[in-house]
Amino acid sequence: MTETLERWSSRRAFILAVTGAAVGLGNIWRFPYMTGENGGAVFLLLYVAFVVSLGLPVMMAEIMIGRAGRRSPMQSLAYLAHQAEASPHWRWLGVFGGVTVFFILSFYSVVSGWSIEFLIEAVNGDFVGLGPAEIGANFDAFLADPLRMTFNHTLFLLLTMSVVAAGVAGGLEKLNNLMMPLLYVLLVVLVIYAASTDGFGQALTWLLRPDLSALSVGVVLNALGHAFFTLAVGACALMAYGAYMPDHQSLPRAVGAVAVLDVAVALLAGVAIFSVVFSQGMDPGEGPGLMFVTLPIAFAELPWGSLWLGIFFLLLLLATWTSSINLAEPMVATLQGMGLRRSRATALVAVAVWLAGLLSVLSFSTMAEVDWLAGMNFFELVTTVPTDVFLPIGGLLIAIFAAWVMPRSTALRALDAGPNGFRVWQALLRYVSIPLTLIVLLSGLI
Ligand code: PFF
Ligand code: NA
Repeated sequence: MTETLERWSSRRAFILAVTGAAVGLGNIWRFPYMTGENGGAVFLLLYVAFVVSLGLPVMMAEIMIGRAGRRSPMQSLAYLAHQAEASPHWRWLGVFGGVTVFFILSFYSVVSGWSIEFLIEAVNGDFVGLGPAEIGANFDAFLADPLRMTFNHTLFLLLTMSVVAAGVAGGLEKLNNLMMPLLYVLLVVLVIYAASTDGFGQALTWLLRPDLSALSVGVVLNALGHAFFTLAVGACALMAYGAYMPDHQSLPRAVGAVAVLDVAVALLAGVAIFSVVFSQGMDPGEGPGLMFVTLPIAFAELPWGSLWLGIFFLLLLLATWTSSINLAEPMVATLQGMGLRRSRATALVAVAVWLAGLLSVLSFSTMAEVDWLAGMNFFELVTTVPTDVFLPIGGLLIAIFAAWVMPRSTALRALDAGPNGFRVWQALLRYVSIPLTLIVLLSGLI
């Protein structure tokens, strides 16, 4: 297979695409509930430490490989391994990434479907005048209705796949450009509102004052997985985006900006959501339903609450949309690289992901008690194992490939950070990121 000729139209477009991939459910939905379940500030501290020490260097490695290969992830790895006279089996890393994005996208679509449902309910004014208990009951009733959930899951997947079918560099760049700053503004507004609630102080304490007794191996592993997930690293999805990166752009600089933005969005969302949790006397360890209960409660009290809530879910939807496109792209690009037309590749991926998503839909009703692994139902399985295990393993192998296997000259050119920047990055990967990921993974698995 030959090099792809597709490119992001500018350096800025590349940064926006990667930001779009990074900022999504991980920041606004997963970060708050994981923090709630994993001891608050301890989790936050670990996650930020992992973003800096592993997330960033591995993110650079992943994009760099795609940029050097200029093919789909699997084919880039095969091509670069051949060039380095290394084992052709490296291509299986691309396949493993494909499996990872497949399962992540299958639940991502279902949860993003929830925001479609809530967007419609908010615009209808369904939450006006409801108290916390009624809003909680409304969410439970929605989860128990597989037809409604399937409808929203289908809608979201169609939205995603129609963009992917049309190619990456099309209207998406402009959409990102408009919507990401708006999302940011709305989060700030939400935080200002949160600051006026009784729970604000408690939320800050909860997020910023670590209670070391909450520390456990499980918490460390969760924080590691979350650092990879939120940056979209370890699944070869950013590798696919790297293939379209323009020449003459320093990778570390672009990626640094993305990481700062990603952490900031998570923090703002966390402050907002926990203020409401504490001011309403709710349980921070409530799990995946957390924001779908707290936000409607918060906005139900605000003037123009339905409008704000509607806009918030719309923007959440756009944020998840730009992430789900990134999840789908590597699968489609790989099939395309194997000779399929893009439209056909997209349709195939769509059908497969849709079917897997149904298992997540049913995990809230008929299949809630079905034990897939270690007492987890399907939704619990796909929201934990691909993130906490597959992403770190994928990230580890990506780092090893970039730091030890690829020829120096190829990597140096694709990183585009000068010889000194290259040396620092390579040393970080070799002596910090790789050993640290290995230690955490092994201690977690044992
Ligand atoms: N980074 C995305 C989020 O925080 O929602 C999720 C994600 C996208 C994970 C792409 C993995 C991936 F390859
Ligand atoms: Na994220």
